[in-house]
Amino acid sequence: MHSSVSIEKLADYVGKDVVLRGWLYNRRDSKGLSFLVVRDGSGIVQCVAAEDSLDAESWQAVSSVTQESSLEVRGTVRLDDRQVGGVELTVTGLRMISAASEYPISPKAHGVEFLMNQRHLWLRSRRQWAIMRIRNRIIMSIHQLFQEQGFLQMDAPILTGNAVEGTSTLFELDYFDEKAYLTQSGQLYGEAMAMAFGKIYTFGPTFRAEKSKTRRHLTEFWMIEPEMAFYDLDMNMQLAEDLIVRIARDVVRDCATELQVLDRDMEQLRKITGPFPRLSYDDAVALLRSDETRAKFDKREAEAVAERESLELEREQNRARYGQAKKGEKRRIDAREIEINARLDEIEEELRNLPAWRESALNFEWGGDFGGSDETVLTWHFDQPIIVHRFPASIKAFYMKRDPEDDRLALGMDVLAPEGYGEIVGGGERATDLEFLERQVAAHGLPEEVFQWYFDLRRYGSVPHSGFGLGLERTITWICKLPHLREAIPFPRLMGRLNP
Ligand code: 4AD
Ligand code: MG
Repeated sequence: MHSSVSIEKLADYVGKDVVLRGWLYNRRDSKGLSFLVVRDGSGIVQCVAAEDSLDAESWQAVSSVTQESSLEVRGTVRLDDRQVGGVELTVTGLRMISAASEYPISPKAHGVEFLMNQRHLWLRSRRQWAIMRIRNRIIMSIHQLFQEQGFLQMDAPILTGNAVEGTSTLFELDYFDEKAYLTQSGQLYGEAMAMAFGKIYTFGPTFRAEKSKTRRHLTEFWMIEPEMAFYDLDMNMQLAEDLIVRIARDVVRDCATELQVLDRDMEQLRKITGPFPRLSYDDAVALLRSDETRAKFDKREAEAVAERESLELEREQNRARYGQAKKGEKRRIDAREIEINARLDEIEEELRNLPAWRESALNFEWGGDFGGSDETVLTWHFDQPIIVHRFPASIKAFYMKRDPEDDRLALGMDVLAPEGYGEIVGGGERATDLEFLERQVAAHGLPEEVFQWYFDLRRYGSVPHSGFGLGLERTITWICKLPHLREAIPFPRLMGRLNP
C-alpha cells in the first residue's frame, strides 16, 4: 500500500512506500538512471529512477518529464544524509499529470527585472520557498505573542478620509465625489479600539506613495500595529523588544532548513536575545559624530579593499587552472566565478557609498532625521537591534506626546535592525491633551473636521497610551538577510511595478 505524503513528512516514512504529488524542479541524467528533484510546496526531494527497475510506461514518463511538469511519483523512502531533509526516494512508478512547455526560468542566473516579470513563476524557486515559509512563521509568531498576552486583533479600514503619517505619501482616490486615501497606518483607529478593549493590534496592508526606489520601500506593505491603554514609552519599547526576540527565536528554532537554503548565518540571529540597547536621539547623534564611528569607517574600507584583492587573486588563479581542469571541476570554477563577481559588485558598491555615508554621519546636525545610511552606521556598533527614542518633535508625526523634561522632544521610538537593515519599528507614546492635539493638527496642515472623532478619544476618558508599527517586509528582509524588500512579499508593489 502507498500512502500519499508531503515531502516535509518523508523522514517519518523511511523504508515505506509512498506517493508524492508535485512538480519537477530539476533533473540530471546518466545512462539508464535519472535523478529527478521534485518539489511539492512543503519541501524538495531527490527521486532516483532506474530504467531496469521500472515498467516501460513509467520509464517513458521519467524520460519525458520536463522542468515544472506536474507529476505523481511512487517510491520507497531511503535515508541519505547527503540530501537536504536527510532522505531520498527510490522510484517504483511515475505518472505525468501535465507536461510543462519550455519553462522560462532556467537554473542559470537571471537578472532581477526578468525574475520580477516572472514573479508568478519565480515563487516556485527554492529560495522563494524559503523566504515565504519564514514569512509565514513570522506572521504566526506575531499572532501567538499578542494572543498569548491578551491583545484583541482588529482590522482598521483601508479606505480613509485622513492622513496619519504626513500628507506627502498619500494615495488619493475618488470616493463617490469625495476625496479618500488608502491608509498609511491603522494607528488612529487602533487608538479608538484600545480605549474600548485595552490592548489591541492591527495586522493589515498599508500604503505609501513613496517616490523612492530604495531597497527599503514598498508602496504596499503589511504593518502590525499594537496599541495599548496605560502603556508609557518604556513599556512600549519593551513590548517591541519582546516581539522581535520572539520572532528571531521561533525562526531559528523552526526554520533551520529555510535559513540554510538562504545561506543565512544563524549565529547572527541567535544573538537576538535582548535587552536591546536604548539610545536617546541625543546619544545617537553623538555616536554618529564620534571617533568610534570614524574608526568603523576606516576598518570597513580597509576590509573591503583587502577582500577585493583576495577575491581578484582567487579569480585569477581559478582561470589559470581552467584549461587543464576536468569537466566537473570546470563547472565548480564557473559557479565560483559567478559568486566572486557578485560579491565584487557588492564590494564596489560599498566602496562607492562609504565616502558619502562617512560625510553624512560625521557631520550629522542635531534636529535632522536619520537617513538610511545613518541608521546603518549606528547599528554597526551593536550586534542586536537598537532602540532610538526621544526625537526632535519637528521630525515626528502630529500625535506624539512631548517629553515632559524637554519640550523640543517627542516621545517617539524607532527600532533599528542590525546588519544594515535600518528601521523596522516606529512608534511612541501618544499625546493625550486635547488642546495640544488641536494645535498640532493645525500646525501640520491637517483638516480639523475629519479629526473630530479622534479628538473625542481625548474628550471621553483619555488615558496615557502607546503603540508602534512593525513593518512585516522590513522584518523578513532582515531575518532572511535579503538584499531588497521586493522578495519579502509574494507580489511586491513598488514605484514602477504593478504587475504581475
Ligand atoms: O514609522 P512609521 O511610518 O510609523 C507609523 O506608521 C506609525 N503610525 C505606527 C504606529 O505607531 N502605530 O511606519 C512603521 C513601520 C516602519 O518602521 C517600517 O518598518 C514600515 O512601517 N514601513 C515601511 N515598510 C516598507 N515600505 C515602506 N514604504 C514603509 N514605510 C514604513
Ligand atoms: Mg518611521
